[in-house]
Amino acid sequence: MNLVFLGPPGSGKGTQAIKLAKERSLIHLSTGDLLRAAVKNGTELGKQAEGYMKKGELVPDELIVGLIENKITDSEILNGFMLDGFPRTINQAEKLKEMFAKNKIILNKVILFNIDDDEIVKRLSGRWYCPKCNASYNYPTKMPKVEGHCDFDNTELKRRPDDEEDVVRNRLEVYKKQTKPLEDYYRKESILAEIDAKQSPDEVFQALINLLNGLN
Ligand code: AP5
Repeated sequence: MNLVFLGPPGSGKGTQAIKLAKERSLIHLSTGDLLRAAVKNGTELGKQAEGYMKKGELVPDELIVGLIENKITDSEILNGFMLDGFPRTINQAEKLKEMFAKNKIILNKVILFNIDDDEIVKRLSGRWYCPKCNASYNYPTKMPKVEGHCDFDNTELKRRPDDEEDVVRNRLEVYKKQTKPLEDYYRKESILAEIDAKQSPDEVFQALINLLNGLN
């Protein structure tokens, strides 16, 4: 089962991908996580990507496409994978189609996480994460046991620089201009399925499982 998770920032793609990876033994490929790791490790890719990410702009396609191609040709993905945050432009979707054809990979479904802007701003302004183990928290819906500290290793929690409200608003604009056209692109290919992402995390997960069960 190979899936693409599509949706605006903060729609819950990462949260659901982590849960589904465990439940269905799928590989979770998040371009945002790969880029943040590159920034943290000070790699050449990280240095080139950091400025775009801080402003909430997309990293240029030529930097990101090669990153995904390396991952989907890795033997680890044989059981199936979820692409979270890729593609984000029509050009990236075309490149992905070429990669899949070349490697005889089938894209089973594109899942669109539908949510409104106000809920996104609320969620992202409450998001905190642990810089050591990457655990994610949210005020007030998923609070750590000790205020400001990770439940697993007690590390002080941080906020993503691109979760500041002005950057979130820009990320939403970027989504509307550059990524939203993918909704119609995949609708026309009859592989788009939509989920109401405003429900609770458990309800969204159940909707996802129901949808995937219908595909088997
Ligand atoms: P990326 O990391 O992919 O950011 P994003 O798509 O904007 O997604 P987020 O991680 O913010 O949100 P999400 O939908 O995963 O939601 P989450 O589950 O975390 O990309 C970051 C940057 O990298 C981009 O801006 C760009 O610069 C660059 N980049 C990445 N891919 C690229 C590409 N392909 N091309 C070019 N550039 C690229 O949830 C958010 C919060 O809400 C969490 O706190 C969570 O706990 C909470 N939450 C989740 N679900 C629920 C729920 N149902 N109810 C209540 N709270 C919830």
